[in-house]
Amino acid sequence: MHSAIRNVVFIFAIGIGFVLIKAQSKKLITTGCMNCICEAASNCNVSIGCFQPYDGSYFCGAFGISLNYWIDAGKPIIKNDDPEKPGAFENCVTDLYCAAETVHQYMKKFSTDGDCNSDGEIDCADFALMHNMGGYDCSSNVNNTKTDFYVNFESCWAKIKPQPSVNATSE
Ligand SMILES: *[C@@H]1O[C@H](CO)[C@@H](O)[C@H](O)[C@H]1NC(C)=O
Ligand SMILES: *[C@@H]1O[C@H](CO)[C@@H](O)[C@H](O)[C@H]1NC(C)=O
Repeated sequence: MHSAIRNVVFIFAIGIGFVLIKAQSKKLITTGCMNCICEAASNCNVSIGCFQPYDGSYFCGAFGISLNYWIDAGKPIIKNDDPEKPGAFENCVTDLYCAAETVHQYMKKFSTDGDCNSDGEIDCADFALMHNMGGYDCSSNVNNTKTDFYVNFESCWAKIKPQPSVNATSE
């Protein structure tokens, strides 16, 4: 039962990601990458609301987004909301579509300097590190791969990442 619910949420999230990718021609993050970040953050639980995993922290929504992350992403909002109004942050990041847009904008902002693991390309592993550790100076966090978030991310990504082929670029 539990995993059935998760699968439904996961498929729903794939649908959202697909719509986003169709809507905006050039997205940095693939749908699969997006879903693994969502899975790692909350099991992609769209009804998780806001939570405080440790004192002084405050994260919201299936992607586990903080206020500062949302600000860095340019304060995306749900339809007819005001980014300066209290609640605009929570309204956005607890909405799966707006949360996904927040992640896209955040990665867009930081991806120019986003080869966190210095492997020569900016790919989903880097996006996951930036999502978890922040986009500022992400290479200083290259060794933070033992967090629950990153371990869960890797096990998801290992299952769905594109397999290398003769001339494909990875991501
Ligand atoms: C999602 O999070 C809510 C709030 O924490 C919880 O009550 C619910 O059981 C979670 N759903 C799943 C499928 O884990
Ligand atoms: C990460 O770990 C490697 C191997 O232990 C080490 O050489 C490197 O300096 C570390 N990087 C950072 C930024 O701490």
